[in-house]
Amino acid sequence: MKQIIEAVDLRKSYVKGREEVPVLKGINLTVEEGEFMAVVGPSGSGKSTLLYLLGALARPTAGKVTIEGKDITSLSERELAQLRRQKIGFVFQRFNLFGALSAYDNLEILSDISRDGTVNREEIKELLAKVGLREKLKFKPRELSMGEEQRLAIARAVVRRPAIILADEPTGNLDWDNAQIVLELFQSLNEAGQTIIMVTHNPQAAAYASRVLRLTDGRLFGQKED
Ligand SMILES: Nc1ncnc2c1ncn2[C@@H]1O[C@H](COP(=O)(O)OP(=O)(O)O)[C@@H](O)[C@H]1O
Ligand SMILES: [Mg+2]
Repeated sequence: MKQIIEAVDLRKSYVKGREEVPVLKGINLTVEEGEFMAVVGPSGSGKSTLLYLLGALARPTAGKVTIEGKDITSLSERELAQLRRQKIGFVFQRFNLFGALSAYDNLEILSDISRDGTVNREEIKELLAKVGLREKLKFKPRELSMGEEQRLAIARAVVRRPAIILADEPTGNLDWDNAQIVLELFQSLNEAGQTIIMVTHNPQAAAYASRVLRLTDGRLFGQKED
C-alpha cells in the first residue's frame, strides 16, 4: 500500500497571553491510500487542530507533514492553496455552503477548476443523485434539512475528486438516522478508493472507519498493531 499522508513528530502550540500552550505534542502518523481512518478524543483535545495541519490549512509549530511523499511544511501560502484545491476535500461540522446558491450551483462553482477545466453537468447531477439530492438540485441550503445540507457539503468536498477527504465532526449536528446516511456515504466513497480521515467524538460513528486512533494529552494512541 502507498502512503498518502505522513506526520512526523508533529507539534502545535497556541500562544495564550504570554504562555505557549501545547496542543499537539509529537504526533506520528502514517495514512495509507484508501484508508478510512477515524480520530476520536474529547472536546479540546486537538482533533480539529490535527486535521487542519494534515490538510495544510494551518502550519505546525514543529515537525512535518508529507502528502503523497512531498513535504508540505516549507511550501508557500500559494502552493498550499493549490495543494488543497488539487488533493483535499474538507467537510466541516457546519457546512460552509454558499447560502445564495442552489445545490447544483454549490457544486458547479467548484467543479470549473476540475482537471480538464470544464464543467461536467452530468457528473454533477450524478454526484447529487449519489447523495440523494437528485430531486433537489435547485434547492438552496436553507431549503434543505440538516442531513441533506451535510450530504450536499460532502458532494461539494468530493466534486473535484480529491485523493483525500478530511471530515471534522461531519455528523456532529445530525441525529443518528442522518448520521448513518452520511457515514454510509463516506463508506461508499472509501470503497471507491477515496482516503478518508474523519474526526469525531462519537464512538458509534468511529466504528464505520477501518482504523480508529485516539487523541489524548496531545498524543495519538491505538495505532495499527499488525
Ligand atoms: N486558533 C487558536 N488559538 C488559540 N487556541 C486555540 C486555537 N485553536 C484551538 N485552540 C485551542 O487548542 C485546543 C484544541 O482545540 P481543537 O483542536 O479545536 O480541539 P477539538 O477539535 O478536539 O475540540 C483547545 O484548548 C483550543 O482552545
Ligand atoms: Mg474540533
